[in-house]
Amino acid sequence: MIENKEYSELKRWLEDTADERCEDMGAFFDRRISGYEDHMSPWTEHYVRVAELLPQSTQTLLDLGCGTGLELDRIFERMPDLRVTAIDLSESMTAQLIKKHGSRDLEVILDDYFLYDLGENRFDAAVSVESFHHFTAEKKAGLFAKIYRALKPGGIYIECDYIASIPEIEELTFKECRRRRERDGIPDDRYIHFDTPLTLEHELSAMRSGGFDEAALVEQINGTPIIVAKKRGV
Ligand SMILES: C[S@@+](CC[C@H](N)C(=O)[O-])C[C@H]1O[C@@H](n2cnc3c(N)ncnc32)[C@H](O)[C@@H]1O
Repeated sequence: MIENKEYSELKRWLEDTADERCEDMGAFFDRRISGYEDHMSPWTEHYVRVAELLPQSTQTLLDLGCGTGLELDRIFERMPDLRVTAIDLSESMTAQLIKKHGSRDLEVILDDYFLYDLGENRFDAAVSVESFHHFTAEKKAGLFAKIYRALKPGGIYIECDYIASIPEIEELTFKECRRRRERDGIPDDRYIHFDTPLTLEHELSAMRSGGFDEAALVEQINGTPIIVAKKRGV
């Protein structure tokens, strides 16, 4: 018996939703576009902090899993002339982003960040907010290596995401995700929307495997960590 409120509530919720069919990642967000920003309002402080943590000298930014641009709303408030490349799978989420910020120096890429070529030494900074908690440590390590390559020397990566507060939450969610995938006949390479957060230790370890050897937790707001990782300078 695990005595942890978050674990017990999650376990109960997973039992209550056990018969729900898996939904494809892009379709999941496309269907929830109306009301999405209101739904994310509890994270307002996180978006503000991510924007504040960007160095003032930042000129080029990569946003992975940008959605409708909630973090970019705050970032553009601070740095209106920033050149941003933003990637996301969801057509309706990115359409909303373009509606809000289409007049800025913004390139929106409708693609999978695991497959898209992010290039080399291109960005001063990269951010990802509430997007990577759907993937395994192995898959993320490969993505972190791509982000590392895409940053300029001395560049900074800031991540704010759902993290499993105890190892049992990571184990439970990955086990349930596997069960639902097998039940619905969904192959491993098809993305579904199902939260599988890693523990902080495993998240940091995946970042270090990708090359960010000094990745570290900088703060936690209402249990959600903000991690900062830097690419070695020249
Ligand atoms: C919860 S939303 C977060 C959006 C935004 N960063 C925010 O905080 O509001 C997660 C986003 O990640 C995107 N996403 C998930 N997997 C992706 C992938 N493999 N490639 C690109 N985008 C992805 C989804 O389409 C969705 O818009």
